[in-house]
Amino acid sequence: MIFTVAIDGPAAAGKGTISRAVAARFGLRHLDTGLLYRAVGVLGGDPVTAARGLRAEDLARDDLRSLAAGQAASKVAVIPEVRAALVEFQRKFARSKGGAVLDGRDIGTVICPEAEVKLYVTASPEVRAHRRWLEVGGDEGAVLAEVKERDARDMGRADAPLRAAVDAVVIDTSEMGIDEAVARAAAVVEMVLKARR
Ligand code: CDP
Repeated sequence: MIFTVAIDGPAAAGKGTISRAVAARFGLRHLDTGLLYRAVGVLGGDPVTAARGLRAEDLARDDLRSLAAGQAASKVAVIPEVRAALVEFQRKFARSKGGAVLDGRDIGTVICPEAEVKLYVTASPEVRAHRRWLEVGGDEGAVLAEVKERDARDMGRADAPLRAAVDAVVIDTSEMGIDEAVARAAAVVEMVLKARR
């Protein structure tokens, strides 16, 4: 079965949790594409060289989840040659046998426009910043500023900007618990799978 679930959206909207839950529930492989950009960002040196030479162990580093790594990721993610170097790996993963869930910023728009399911998971900047602050601590105002700065860079870049695909189902999790958000996403996947049977 070739079956792709593309999940896009801004930082801390709940994409990661939803993606992992959907993958586990339907027996699909999962790729957090943000890790690719985070790894390129923290590797340092020339980002294009880093993206072209990215190895599996670079994705297993334990410093990829920090706010600094997120910022570094969104800075290298504006470089078209960096994005181009990462396209093939993501496309192969998306169309590999057995089906896959990919979460990121441009999965439904650029990496896999043919995805059978496209979700755009979002929430207000304040709610997203609060969630990220619960994970990382520190000053909540600074976390909100970081979230807004990254949103502006991700949405404003020329190459593969963050936006919902025209055929994406939008899930706004601002006033939703994670269980409800996962249930909504799973219901969409279930509906599409049923229609194919
Ligand atoms: O977990 P969070 O949503 O905060 O971030 P992430 O998904 O790990 O992505 C980190 C950064 O990588 C984003 O702010 C984007 O700039 C970039 N990214 C991208 O450009 N395209 C993707 N498919 C995934 C991430």
